Amino acid sequence: MKLNLRIWRQKDTDTAGRFVTYQVDEVSPDMSFLEMLDVLNEDLIGRGEEPVAFEHDCREGICGSCGFVINGMPHGPRRHTTVCQLHMRFFKDGDCLTLEPWRAQAFPVVRDLVVDRSAFDRIIQAGGYITAPTGAAPEAGAILVPKEAADTAMDAATCIGCGACVAACPNAAAMLFTSAKITHLNSLPQGQPERDERTLNMTAAMALEDFGSCSNHAECEAACPKGIPLEFIAGLNRDLIRAAFHRHREPLAVVAAPRHPAHEDT
Ligand code: SF4
Ligand code: FES
Repeated sequence: MKLNLRIWRQKDTDTAGRFVTYQVDEVSPDMSFLEMLDVLNEDLIGRGEEPVAFEHDCREGICGSCGFVINGMPHGPRRHTTVCQLHMRFFKDGDCLTLEPWRAQAFPVVRDLVVDRSAFDRIIQAGGYITAPTGAAPEAGAILVPKEAADTAMDAATCIGCGACVAACPNAAAMLFTSAKITHLNSLPQGQPERDERTLNMTAAMALEDFGSCSNHAECEAACPKGIPLEFIAGLNRDLIRAAFHRHREPLAVVAAPRHPAHEDT
């Protein structure tokens, strides 16, 4: 099959970008979307042109590196599918596809389809951990985990940090990502000692970045390739109120949250 691609080309963060049109021939329906871009890039390199930059690592839907917008949809048209797991059999011969990077102020474009998602790293740094004693591995049954808590934590842990939720949200909010990371550890007995501090610090770190506020559009849930549910956002809000009461803190007061370099002087 043949495809026409309109791809966002941008040299770096400070240079203006534009769409460039390419035609890709001999696309197999069994190729993944990224393999189809590999074919395009080999052709571009062969012609002495710059290949299209896109991020990837596992190509198995588990690392969260890949992701861009295809025809207005983060990760493309298949529900619960990362772009690396999206296959060309879901497209038709002659299709015209528009590829562009995540559009969000908190995710500046690094090059072409690659964006800087280090804002997510700073949210994780603020509280995405537990404190555990070092030494020999504890007895497996020493801490009992209720089945319901284990299931919730496992569901939340499937968030791969891809950023599609932010790209889909009209406010570019990061609530679905942050709620998944907080729910993961707050659900488990091992996460209880730092539960309140984690909730307050990660939410504060999120507020320090250039994300917008959640206004319940639910586009994030629809775009999420891992099916992270909106109910985790409701859980985060409940935990935030609980933590503010327990710690006698304003919900968004910042204590030891890493700061975005752009906000260091404010
Ligand atoms: S919540 Fe879903 S869309 Fe958002 S970063 Fe996690 S996996 Fe990606
Ligand atoms: S490359 Fe790892 S999730 Fe797509």
